[in-house]
Amino acid sequence: MPIKILMVCLGNICRSPLAEGILASKLPKNKFTVDSAGTGSWHIGHAPDERSIAVAKKNRVFISHQKGRQFSKSDFDSFDYIYVMDHTNYQDVLELAENNEQKDKVKLILNELFPNENVDVPDPYFGLPNGFQIVYNMLDEACDVIAKKLIVKHQ
Ligand code: 4NP
Repeated sequence: MPIKILMVCLGNICRSPLAEGILASKLPKNKFTVDSAGTGSWHIGHAPDERSIAVAKKNRVFISHQKGRQFSKSDFDSFDYIYVMDHTNYQDVLELAENNEQKDKVKLILNELFPNENVDVPDPYFGLPNGFQIVYNMLDEACDVIAKKLIVKHQ
């Protein structure tokens, strides 16, 4: 059985598709599966935002095949690790948890880089174009740490 990791943001079109693509590119595919979801329902079935697709492609990460979906309670059982992008995602996901085991699976992704600091990945959707590059760089660094830890833990 592969180890399953889920990336969660609000829309599942900007941040979590990038996080999914970046982490998947750093992990061996035979052992790990990475997916993403949004807490909101606006973008179910949609491809990632063009700006996320472009910044990923520039870094040889390909995400245009992804399709938006909404986070659901069953994800707590399907996934081993759940990384959220910001405080709001954290609260929204935790509200759906039914026990402490489910709650414990949920982590703020930038706490991997800045332990216990609870820093958000900013939502680039309404921001400046370079917001996507800034988000990419943050996620790339965080996913480096996550991938190294997972590979050691599950070797
Ligand atoms: P994401 O960004 O959570 O990084 O995918 C957003 C994309 C779309 C919306 C909100 C956030 N929206 O409101 O449509």
